[in-house]
Amino acid sequence: MKLHIAVLAGDGIGPEISAVGVDVLRAVAEKFGHEIEFSEALCGAAAIEAVGDPFPEETFAICKTADAVLFSAVGDPKFDNDPTAKVRPEQGLLAMRKKLGLYANIRPVQTFPCLVHKSPLKDEIVRGADFVCIRELTGGMYFGAKQEGEDYAYDTNAYTRAEVERILHAAYACARRRRKHLTVVDKANVLASSRLWRKVAQEVEKVYPDVTTDYMYVDNAAMRMIQDPKFFDVIVTENTFGDILTDEGSCITGSMGLLPSASTGESTPVFEPIHGSWPQAKGLNIANPLAQILSVAMLLEHFDLAEEAALVRRTVDASLDENVRTPEIQVEGGPHYGTKEVGAWIVDRIRQA
Ligand code: IPM
Ligand code: MG
Repeated sequence: MKLHIAVLAGDGIGPEISAVGVDVLRAVAEKFGHEIEFSEALCGAAAIEAVGDPFPEETFAICKTADAVLFSAVGDPKFDNDPTAKVRPEQGLLAMRKKLGLYANIRPVQTFPCLVHKSPLKDEIVRGADFVCIRELTGGMYFGAKQEGEDYAYDTNAYTRAEVERILHAAYACARRRRKHLTVVDKANVLASSRLWRKVAQEVEKVYPDVTTDYMYVDNAAMRMIQDPKFFDVIVTENTFGDILTDEGSCITGSMGLLPSASTGESTPVFEPIHGSWPQAKGLNIANPLAQILSVAMLLEHFDLAEEAALVRRTVDASLDENVRTPEIQVEGGPHYGTKEVGAWIVDRIRQA
């Protein structure tokens, strides 16, 4: 297969994990005889510094014509503590999502048997947890009308029927490939936008009688996720709730550095870790590259390269089993591996497989 991949490394640990992701993809391409062309492009704080725009037109043009985007992370503390900043790195990520029409963000939460002890939750609660959060990504408060005054500010949580319908269909398609259980998460006891979600979901539900649908308020879902994560198979929810619930979900896996995601919709799909740019770790060679590598696996699956993706996943499992791990998940007294070393080990294993 011939693929053109746009590589957006971004900020903080972004460039370090991006390099590993590209190496893994190259190794897979060589092994299976695929031709992959990479185009690097600027985004986030790096792009603000270079050209004053967190998602420059040139980057958009590269993404638009690519087959997929391999994205890493954006964000810089310089902007976090400056509420007056006119332009922020995160706007680059939001612009990319909006301009590419990436309305469906797929965030799988899985446990790795050898890492269960790393979760702050009890073993018996997290062992075997395996669910997917489908987060609506181009609507809601992130993109609704907003105003920012001196003493008064607001964000609007607006959704149209069409936006809700299309994400529900994506969620049902996902549930059909899994254990056929969909939980619609909203706040319909308080929010008008959530009542629209629920009304539309009750209609769409009828199209998928083979899938069990239940409805849960977001506060209750947040509790259920740590009390009994195995209850969930597929969760579908709006943009802001999905942002919050997926960070919570990462605690089940034991490290945020393990969770990949795929964003799909109208144009080029994007594959990215759910973690941020972790600026404190920049250049220290300690960031976990596995979320980026698992994002590569999701990219391969998107193009139906199942064997290739399975090899990447098996190799990630092997690295964990053999204690080739970055510091935050290394067992006490275990060998030390940095971002680069974990990446090199995985690339080698793929080549030898
Ligand atoms: C995420 C991130 C982003 C979001 C930030 C960086 C804008 O937290 O992808 O979950 O809020 O969507
Ligand atoms: Mg988030």
